[in-house]
Amino acid sequence: MSQDQQQGRVAVITGASSGIGAATARSLHAAGYRVALLARRTDRIKALADELGDGAVACSADVTDRDSLVAAAEQVRQEFGGTDVLVNNAGVMLLGPFSAERRADYRTMIEVNLLGAITATEVFLDQLKDGGGDLVNISSVAGRVANAGSSVYAATKFGINGWSESLRKELLPDVRVTVIEPGVVATELPTHITHEATRQGAQQLYDVAEVTAEDVAEVITFALQRPRHLAVHEILLRPAGQAL
Ligand SMILES: NC(=O)c1ccc[n+]([C@@H]2O[C@H](COP(=O)([O-])OP(=O)(O)OC[C@H]3O[C@@H](n4cnc5c(N)ncnc54)[C@H](OP(=O)(O)O)[C@@H]3O)[C@@H](O)[C@H]2O)c1
Repeated sequence: MSQDQQQGRVAVITGASSGIGAATARSLHAAGYRVALLARRTDRIKALADELGDGAVACSADVTDRDSLVAAAEQVRQEFGGTDVLVNNAGVMLLGPFSAERRADYRTMIEVNLLGAITATEVFLDQLKDGGGDLVNISSVAGRVANAGSSVYAATKFGINGWSESLRKELLPDVRVTVIEPGVVATELPTHITHEATRQGAQQLYDVAEVTAEDVAEVITFALQRPRHLAVHEILLRPAGQAL
């Protein structure tokens, strides 16, 4: 798609208050998209919308609360007339040894990473289908390789991949489905890990991470800018030094 054709397309990004979501909002806005920023931390998405200026709107939404997504979809329809792109990016990575002690983490990851993406998609689907849309699901290397200590996080990302593959077939040609599978990216993702030893180990890895949220955002923008007859279905992005 040419730069001209991007102008005015509307992208809704969940988890736009930090990391890959915020970088994707910046990148798509720079490419001419109007962007709707969804997250729970309203102060952050408002500040980002103010920074971007025209064509950016903050919509307070929790992906585990369907009513808040319905309200956001209505806000986007009123502000921008509809949605062309949904980036399902909101996610949490609560790693640690599998244990009953962390059962609350398991429910949170499934509700945010998997059910949250599913719910956002069914809520925005009519808008996406109306005129040729794009669905971008942020999976992970953990959607392809499951390591010890990442069992339920990997389950959510394997789930995203299976769900996306089915939707790819079901929604064509109205909606293109793209899965992005990053490896370690320098964001605040590991800071929420509740298992202390795992959090410290992960933080050491993330402290030296070289791949940035902006690197991933550029790839998402590239995939969306392909001409309409070409669908980029899956992109696996590892740091050049990552053996996992
Ligand atoms: N960083 C990596 O190494 C890496 C690698 C592979 C895949 N990923 C994936 O990339 C995505 C983005 O992660 P990130 O690395 O950018 O981490 P991040 O900076 O921690 O961003 C996570 C985002 O998810 C949002 N979020 C969490 N729970 C939410 C909820 N219930 N409702 C709405 N939004 C919610 C957060 O916003 P609020 O807290 O403001 O709601 C935040 O904006 C995730 O799906 C993650 O699994 C990351």
